[in-house]
Amino acid sequence: MTNRTVTLTDPQSEKTLELPVVAGSEGDPTIDITRLNPELGYFTYDPGYGTTANCKSDITFIDGASGILRYRGYPIEQLAERSSFMEITFLLLYGELPTASQLRDFQRDITYHTMVHEKVNSFISGFHYDAHPMAILSGVIASMAGFYQQNLDVNNPEHRELAAKRLIAKMPTVAAAAYRHYMGWPSAYPRNSLNYAENFLHMMFSVPAEAYEINPIAAKALDMLLILHADHEQNASTSTVRLVGSTGANPYACVAAGIAALWGPAHGGANEAVLRMLHQIGDVSRVGEFIKRAKDKNDPFRLMGFGHRVYKNFDPRATITRKACHEVLADLGQNDPLLDLAMKLEKIALEDDYFVQRKLYPNVDFYSGIIYKALGIPTTMFTPMFAIGRTVGWVAQWMEQSASPHRIGRPRQIYTGHGERDYIEIDKRD
Ligand code: CMC
Repeated sequence: MTNRTVTLTDPQSEKTLELPVVAGSEGDPTIDITRLNPELGYFTYDPGYGTTANCKSDITFIDGASGILRYRGYPIEQLAERSSFMEITFLLLYGELPTASQLRDFQRDITYHTMVHEKVNSFISGFHYDAHPMAILSGVIASMAGFYQQNLDVNNPEHRELAAKRLIAKMPTVAAAAYRHYMGWPSAYPRNSLNYAENFLHMMFSVPAEAYEINPIAAKALDMLLILHADHEQNASTSTVRLVGSTGANPYACVAAGIAALWGPAHGGANEAVLRMLHQIGDVSRVGEFIKRAKDKNDPFRLMGFGHRVYKNFDPRATITRKACHEVLADLGQNDPLLDLAMKLEKIALEDDYFVQRKLYPNVDFYSGIIYKALGIPTTMFTPMFAIGRTVGWVAQWMEQSASPHRIGRPRQIYTGHGERDYIEIDKRD
């Protein structure tokens, strides 16, 4: 709280209300409107919550105008280049970078939770072979509340931490199992000698018939992408996790709801949609046609991987993935024509008045799919990859909320339906 207030006068009632201004450690000042309805009888209307803060959080800071993203104060550029996903996981959960021994212990803990109950594999085998992996992921993660019911007390910090570790550890195992189910391959169990990203590649691609060699370039690129996706303050899926968590629901239910929210093409599903869009465009000569469609308000087509609710200058994650895309393709000796197409699309869009005026820039998803593709990850697995990274943010934000006093999330509405009317018996209706 600051000493600042904003005064609101209601000309109708002539009442005046001093609204306190809340300041965080960084970011725009925020008006506390909690007394607005009790004192003046008004609600506020903010579709999509574009100007509404629902919580205080110490975890992630974004400055959309300057293209800044920081986890616990550390700039994303430094973390992507110099840290590791396990270190970032520790940082997001506990607030500080780990010492060497803390990291070793934490890694061991996560590693020892990577296996899933064998019944989880039977559950996955019940899905149709071509079920989207996000459908499998959300269903299976929700089901885990039934596997760990002894440790579901959300008011118990030890239970919360255990659930957080289980979710982080098991998410890649379930995601890889969903892919193997589609491929018809037998289960690949986690290997404790591997790090998080290597283990995922092993569970995705190893087959019993031959030895699987992990490509260190692929493991490094994957680790970096997981860091970039780890948290992003109150995005739609994280807000969903917090909203579900605010009811006291168990963490598996909360994260399953987060997965469902992430699946949408306006959110995490955009990485899959970008690749489909690039295939649909097919050739540089057709870029103009699709730009035109993206600008046409009567056409539902949008340029996927473009635009962001918060970033109105550039998405710092996109700057990193764009560079990484070139590096990874070069390191792997690949030349993907989709990258040329993406660059051409980006160039034309960034010169176009429509995109300039609306401050629409490439977001993290614009280039990440091309990297995943280079690593051999199929398109339907792109959003599960996002989910694996974002699980850390979901559980960190859920733990933060659960550890402090909070109210159930319960927005209001502007009712626009009928006024009161009397019930009419069915035989008397026209
Ligand atoms: N292509 C064409 N027009 C767009 C696009 C786009 N990708 N994004 C926004 N616009 C237009 C929109 O039609 C509107 O125009 P007007 O003012 O004339 O009505 C204006 O730009 C503002 O858009 P908005 O929908 O009000 O913005 P928003 O903040 O509600 O939506 C968004 C943000 C990311 C959902 C949106 O930009 C979008 O749909 N982008 C494509 C999907 C995408 O790439 N999503 C991934 C987001 S980053 C990863 C993540 O964190 O989830």
